[in-house]
Amino acid sequence: MDKETSKKVVVSGIRSTGNLHLGNYYGALSKFVRLQDDYDCRYFIADLHALTTNPDPASLHQSVKDILAEYIAAGLDPEKNIIYVQSDIPEISEMYLLMNMHVGIGELMRTASFKEKARKALGITSDSDEIEKEIIGNQTNQRVNAGLLTYPTLMAVDILIHKADFVPVGKDQEQHLELTRRFARRFNSFYKTDYFGEPVNFNFEGAALKVPGLDGSGKMGKSEGNCIYLIDDEKTLRKKVMRAVTDEGPQAPNSPVSQPVENLFSLMSLVSTPDTVKYFRDAYADCSIRYGDMKKQLAEYILKVTLPIRERILDIKGNDEYLSKVVKNGAERAREHASRTLKEVREIMGIRKI
Ligand code: ADP
Ligand code: TRP
Repeated sequence: MDKETSKKVVVSGIRSTGNLHLGNYYGALSKFVRLQDDYDCRYFIADLHALTTNPDPASLHQSVKDILAEYIAAGLDPEKNIIYVQSDIPEISEMYLLMNMHVGIGELMRTASFKEKARKALGITSDSDEIEKEIIGNQTNQRVNAGLLTYPTLMAVDILIHKADFVPVGKDQEQHLELTRRFARRFNSFYKTDYFGEPVNFNFEGAALKVPGLDGSGKMGKSEGNCIYLIDDEKTLRKKVMRAVTDEGPQAPNSPVSQPVENLFSLMSLVSTPDTVKYFRDAYADCSIRYGDMKKQLAEYILKVTLPIRERILDIKGNDEYLSKVVKNGAERAREHASRTLKEVREIMGIRKI
């Protein structure tokens, strides 16, 4: 709870690693927008987190601007929320150093996202769970950078520096949130204080959401190359949906639904109405379904969501003056909160003036 606004504090961010897709939109951004009227919301662009995968400088910068424009175009109001770029808040970097003193390298190495990214960095394709040995024993010139390992510390600091109550994120981020709570508890117990609370995810309709990809896989993701982007034009979007992976169709009434087709139903339920979903589910059950028709409908519904956002992105994108004003103001406001927390954390830890 923020003392001045007496509202619960919401914090979340998205890494600046490319344009936003439907997974980001339904898993995170649309929740950000729905929260903005009732909570004290602080949303940022996680450019320091993006650095963990070593982007080239020009594309990192472009990506920060793109995501900022996409945030606003999707409905985030800079008047109602604090919108900022993570690297504009130096207090975050300092508190990250301090917090790392209470984080174990073992627990970081066991984090699922770290293992996945470390495997990728080392070119390991096997399922071996011996990633620790692989990293230490690695004799090639591939390396796993230390920033990748301490990614959860930085994320915990993003959240704790605001003393957040809620952190709206997709399902894949829940382990990071669990670590955040663990670090908060550890800090409290080491310093015998109750300084940090335990932030939790925020979901409007039950469980955290996972938006599936168009390639039959379980998750839409930038690195999976199976995304529908908010910025996709009509033609590109239709083409992508029409090419989505399906199967040969139900061979008998009430057949089980394969993963790729279930994915299309999931997407349909996100963008259309219960009636539409029921119509196609029934058609599947009695074998009259034509995937082509269903995809056409799906594309129409998705376009209804994304096209207005796309228009606004194109509108805002070129307006550098406006965009820089938004983040300058956001950084000032975010730093007020961050510097207060950092000052108190330093004091608690014993970093005091002589
Ligand atoms: P990506 O996986 O494409 O690199 P990020 O990791 O930057 O995306 O995710 C930013 C936010 O969007 C996070 O809150 C994450 O949980 C959410 N998100 C990303 N992909 C999905 C998805 N397929 N379904 C639900 N939420 C998602
Ligand atoms: N790790 C998050 C992601 O990949 C991005 C992120 C960084 C974040 N810091 C955060 C999300 C703090 C919520 C709160 O999507």
